[in-house]
Amino acid sequence: MAVLLPGGAGFIGSHTAVELLNSGKEIIILDNFSNSKPNVLDAIKKITGKEFKFYEMDYLNRDGLEKVFQENKIEAVMNFAGYKAVGESVKKPIEYYTNNISGALVLLDVMKKYNCKKFIFSSSATVYGEPEKIPLTEDCKTGGTTNPYGTTKLFIEQILKDIYASDSTWDICILRYFNPVGAHESGLIGEEPQGIPNNLMPYIVRVAKGELKELSVFGDDYNTPDGTGVRDYIHVVDLAKGHVLALDKLDKEQKGLYIYNLGTGTGYSVLDMVKAFEKATGKKVPYKIAPRRDGDIAICYAEPTKAKKELGWEATKTLEDMCLDAWNYIK
Ligand code: WQD
Repeated sequence: MAVLLPGGAGFIGSHTAVELLNSGKEIIILDNFSNSKPNVLDAIKKITGKEFKFYEMDYLNRDGLEKVFQENKIEAVMNFAGYKAVGESVKKPIEYYTNNISGALVLLDVMKKYNCKKFIFSSSATVYGEPEKIPLTEDCKTGGTTNPYGTTKLFIEQILKDIYASDSTWDICILRYFNPVGAHESGLIGEEPQGIPNNLMPYIVRVAKGELKELSVFGDDYNTPDGTGVRDYIHVVDLAKGHVLALDKLDKEQKGLYIYNLGTGTGYSVLDMVKAFEKATGKKVPYKIAPRRDGDIAICYAEPTKAKKELGWEATKTLEDMCLDAWNYIK
């Protein structure tokens, strides 16, 4: 029995593929390389010393997907094929709603047809919108998303709740990621944003490398200790391990729909990140203070104890690991 990973060649998918293989699971990756490269597949094999099946395919291709289910015994699906760039989603809402929501619907419908009802969904802290309280617990109100990307995550969560309400033989786990950063310690897989990065860590790394002149710190007048935005940065390998434990839970426990925050529970400001990166790598990161970015919130970090209690999951990597591994990959 295999775990199917649509989008398994991407940033979070590839790291999860490694952790699943290391834990002895069989996997099948399906990817159209729209935001990843084929050499990632070799890197996964090199890190783990294990083989897996691969299909080059869009997960919206229903016939192709059915063929994958006919040819293999698939026990569970983890969906990493969603588009994830906030800014791009504002410019291309139709593409985002189509890829993320229609894609998820095709996938879930094919799963149902082949009686595969274990699904782990990559959601995001963005579903909380303006946080009701800090730290965020899983029962905090959701909604009020400020961009189509976030809204696709919110809608898919609702779709999953409706599916489970209609048929309680599904086993669903919604993982709400906070801010995934870093890379595998081997330096063989990591994050490769196309063009100028939007997210903080990839931007810092490019500035340190000399490819970009300086970091713009978006706002220093927030109500935070140093005035800059505070986030819960989590190492992608910790995040990947959360998926393996979520699958274990679905394997062992009663059927259900479970929701977990995957964050460290600690918030760091933009300037904390700059200082930590400089300390860890010895590289300078020149920056200037710029106006606030539209749609940003001041503070966002998780209360991760539910995942610790119910999954036995806890982030173990430090901020130094996140900075060093991100740098090591891009170097
Ligand atoms: C972090 C902080 C910025 C860039 C988004 C998505 C979320 C998630 C991760 C997706 C903020 C500041 C940033 C820069 C800066 N999912 N910043 N200068 O906005 O918390 O979360 O990415 O894949 O769903 O919403 O992450 O890394 O963009 O920003 O000062 O050049 O860094 O203002 O305070 P964000 P981020």
